[in-house]
Amino acid sequence: MPLVPMRILLDHAAENAYGLAAFNVNNMEQIQAIMAAAKETDSPVIIQASRGARSYSQDAYLRHLMLAAAELHPAVPIAMHLDHGNAPSTCFSAIEQGFTSVMMDGSLDEAGKTPSTFDYNVEVTQQVVDAAHAKGVSVEGEIGALGGIEDGHGAGLSEAEAQEHLTDPDQAEKFVAATGVDALAVAIGTSHGAYKFSRKPTGDVLRMNLIEEIHRRLPDTHIVMHGSSSVPQELQDIINAHGGKLRQTYGVPVEEIQRGIAHGVRKVNVDTDNRLAMTGAIRTVFADDPEQFDPRKYLGPARDAMQGVCVARMTAFGQAGNAGKIKPVTCKEMVTFYKK
Ligand code: G3H
Ligand code: 13P
Ligand code: ZN
Repeated sequence: MPLVPMRILLDHAAENAYGLAAFNVNNMEQIQAIMAAAKETDSPVIIQASRGARSYSQDAYLRHLMLAAAELHPAVPIAMHLDHGNAPSTCFSAIEQGFTSVMMDGSLDEAGKTPSTFDYNVEVTQQVVDAAHAKGVSVEGEIGALGGIEDGHGAGLSEAEAQEHLTDPDQAEKFVAATGVDALAVAIGTSHGAYKFSRKPTGDVLRMNLIEEIHRRLPDTHIVMHGSSSVPQELQDIINAHGGKLRQTYGVPVEEIQRGIAHGVRKVNVDTDNRLAMTGAIRTVFADDPEQFDPRKYLGPARDAMQGVCVARMTAFGQAGNAGKIKPVTCKEMVTFYKK
């Protein structure tokens, strides 16, 4: 099966009331872990690469690894998505390199540090939607800027700024109408990385009620949750028991994500949990067997550990069992859909 536009996966998820994990990758083992999990659970797949991932791995390696995944798993629909494109040019180069979906994150300026204006966000996102849809490629936009309310993570926002840059449902409505994005990332108090919350989050710092309000106003828009790793205690413990020094931290509980999925969340971004799982496995090998130096002996267990996280998320989000039910559509075929 060719790589598919992300929109067809999101539409299927909406029609059948489930969510899709979108996992970040930088190398072969991570792609293999996701595909093994997809095979194990019969799940459709969203694999995403950030700008950092693209420069670390190089687009040609990424593209060929993704094509290998598609060749080895012909029954699994796979979307290849650009995570946090910082400018239209970044999205355009991704499309040229074979990505079937792009995120134009115009919520921040091009340097990716400072929250931008609404007008700037609409303008750059519109540009990307026009060009991407003409090629059948899906587009995710973002309204509101990510940043933990509690300690100002994410875009380096202070606590007060993070509150201020949570998604405003009015703006979300205007943004979707003005841009025609396929999916909308929202800011509800999550942040990237391991240090999201200093205790299990309650509704004042993880604003799931905002998602409910946005979904009420935009029932046909696919909502995206970023910063949605759950940062499981057992993964923190494995790392710290084998020489690591993570500070105690809390992520987004899976049950809160499930609540989001019941209210229009169709894409859930997970990177940190996989990083933690791989790191824990590698630390364990090195601690147990300090003489080991064959990369397969630690990258293999790391891959298995990541597969375990992916299986758990695919199952919890409800995408398991759906790969075989999706009729594949190519980006070329999608052009007609967008013309309507
Ligand atoms: O957006 C955050 C993802 O976890 C990707 O992180 O920019 O370090 O590749 P990265
Ligand atoms: P985590 O750091 O919570 O895994 O979030 C990843 C993400 O949002 C990628 O865009
Ligand atoms: Zn993100």
